[in-house]
Amino acid sequence: MSTEDCKRQAAAQALELVTSGMRLGLGTGSTAAIFVDLLGEKVKAGGFDVVCVPTSEATRRQAEALGIRLSTLDETPYLDMTVDGADEMDEALRLIKGGGGALLREKIVAAASARLVIIADSSKLVDTLGRFPLPVEVVPFGVTATRNLVISLASDAGCLGEIALRVTKEGTPFVTDNGNFILDCAFGEIPDPETLDDALKLVPGVVESGLFLGLADLGIVGAPEGVTVISNAELDFEEEL
Ligand code: A5P
Repeated sequence: MSTEDCKRQAAAQALELVTSGMRLGLGTGSTAAIFVDLLGEKVKAGGFDVVCVPTSEATRRQAEALGIRLSTLDETPYLDMTVDGADEMDEALRLIKGGGGALLREKIVAAASARLVIIADSSKLVDTLGRFPLPVEVVPFGVTATRNLVISLASDAGCLGEIALRVTKEGTPFVTDNGNFILDCAFGEIPDPETLDDALKLVPGVVESGLFLGLADLGIVGAPEGVTVISNAELDFEEEL
């Protein structure tokens, strides 16, 4: 079974949690895009109405093209559920996100959602976060000074490694949907994600880190041998699947 098929399995299972009338957050990335495609098919088949808030301009364009009813977080500030992907996930459902650069809107939408469901293929499951370079969204002003402070405070939190400004194919800084830059922090294993996240929040130029801690309620992981569900909450999710 291909990675694509594993992602599809996870996305299809997440779709089973969606009921007509829900207010849904739509994630960003290749796995979330499969979920949005499947949701679009369900909406097109008729008799099923959801209103969705996308976490990026790319997802907004995709959903719009599929005829999915869209809203903004200002019009719809409370969401029943968000379905999103992740770059890494541990057994405690702690995540690294932002590989696609959408981490800030993803986190805002996740925080506005009663439930955050993460869909992924099994390559995303790790024992310890940090193999994937941690994306940190920063304001463009003073990015070098901000980077220096990130290096210093991350080091105090036990994290050392190359911190690179994300650039496009053309070599210019990658700009997020919010007009910010991304620092990709190749720390390797992050021994204490909560301490690192707290440290990063102390840096004035840091807008948000790609550490999603205590946000995810359910992980749906697709693998060749089948789908595994990791639940973090006392919610009855697993009974619904
Ligand atoms: C987008 O900014 C990210 O947080 C994505 O959710 C993450 O990169 C996962 O993307 P894939 O599903 O493409 O791996």
